[in-house]
Amino acid sequence: MSEASFLLALRAAVGSSLATDEDSLQRASSDWSGRKGSCSAVVCVRSEADVVAVLTLAAAHQFAVVPRGAATSATGAAVPLNGAVVLDFTGMNRILALDVADMVAEVEPGVVTHQLQARAEEVGLLYPPDPASSDQCTLGGNVATCAGGLRAVKYGVTRDYVLGLRCVLPGGEVFETGGRNLKDVSGYDLTRLLVGSEGTLAVITRITLKLVPLPPGRSTLLASFANDDGAFAAADLLLANGVWPRALETMDAQALRLAATAVGEAVHDSVRSRLLVELDGEVGAVAETEARVLRLLTAHATAVDMANTATAHALVWAGRRAISAAVLTITPAKRSEDLGVPRGQLAAAVRELRAIGKNYGIGVLVYGHAGDANLHCNFLYDPIENGSAKRLEACVQAAYAAVLRRGGTLTGEHGVGLRKRVAVSAALGPVRCRLMRAIKHAFDPNNLLNPGKVLPPEQP
Ligand code: LAC
Ligand code: ZN
Repeated sequence: MSEASFLLALRAAVGSSLATDEDSLQRASSDWSGRKGSCSAVVCVRSEADVVAVLTLAAAHQFAVVPRGAATSATGAAVPLNGAVVLDFTGMNRILALDVADMVAEVEPGVVTHQLQARAEEVGLLYPPDPASSDQCTLGGNVATCAGGLRAVKYGVTRDYVLGLRCVLPGGEVFETGGRNLKDVSGYDLTRLLVGSEGTLAVITRITLKLVPLPPGRSTLLASFANDDGAFAAADLLLANGVWPRALETMDAQALRLAATAVGEAVHDSVRSRLLVELDGEVGAVAETEARVLRLLTAHATAVDMANTATAHALVWAGRRAISAAVLTITPAKRSEDLGVPRGQLAAAVRELRAIGKNYGIGVLVYGHAGDANLHCNFLYDPIENGSAKRLEACVQAAYAAVLRRGGTLTGEHGVGLRKRVAVSAALGPVRCRLMRAIKHAFDPNNLLNPGKVLPPEQP
């Protein structure tokens, strides 16, 4: 059936929620990865009924569908390919329930992460996952990618907070997984399977999230070091001494300057790396740990600043969250990788990645979630420089090989999307890829949901 007849049927089903004007199509064709695809229509869904209608028609007309939240994906996971229909969830954004007794929230996928965090705190609860883009990204996207973020070292990642999902399959069938139970081992864990599936298995319409008590005490410290390895070694030192912060972030010389510039702070030339530590817990316990952290850090740092006024706290975190976008102010182009290694190998992996960059003549900027040993390793290059594309590719492949040799992962939190499907599938190997294809086929036999993502291209 033709695209025209599909769009007519869609218009009849969802009415004014359907947009086919050039502006809407352009906006929905890319995401933060900078990749660009194409779509033939955007449906701004308002309810599950809209999603069911679209997926029923998509199956009948064999049209591909790509769910989309705020499109903050770093890997092209939200980029529609070959004229697919985009389901825009940003308008399906209600917090449906915030149940203090059950300690859960029920939300629609388009809720911005920060909005749930703020609402939960109003009733004395914490929604721990905190991606750097939390004031923009949506919970649907967080679930689809199993977003990690800034508090994972203590609290874990999105998957650790998803108790249940309501989803729609191609053809329009609705099903639920999990629920409000904190423990539930009835059969295969479909909830966990759907978390991180990047919209390739089913379309999520409702999410049940676990909340935890909001710790009353909090302390934030920023330590500066005069050498490149200082912050990374200090992160290890704190963990080795039994400190369990809720955030443990490192920044190299370039990254820390981007963070500082974003909030108008002048940094002395001698500062080569920084560690951002945030503690939480009971007030007395936080004060005790804070004193211990101060002792441990001042032995190695050139300065340790407390960021415990509301203004200082907001500035420190605004600077940290600004780094990713700010990298492009110091380089014509970047390749941003979110590599992970087993915890104990953090400092050695950073040294190795720097050496690899040097070897290929590619700049390396490293910051990230030191507590999780999940590094945002940015390779900086100039695309118009002769041979730079080739050198970059060789450098990235060498970095991948180094991380895999250490038992690490090619993506700690950003996911596979378009960008890493070939590299990740090679790293996973044939058996796991075969199992993943079989799972995909069970949910989406005609490959209509976000095709071209996650799984490797089929062998001819
Ligand atoms: C961050 C994003 C890039 O942590 O994941 O800044
Ligand atoms: Zn991150």
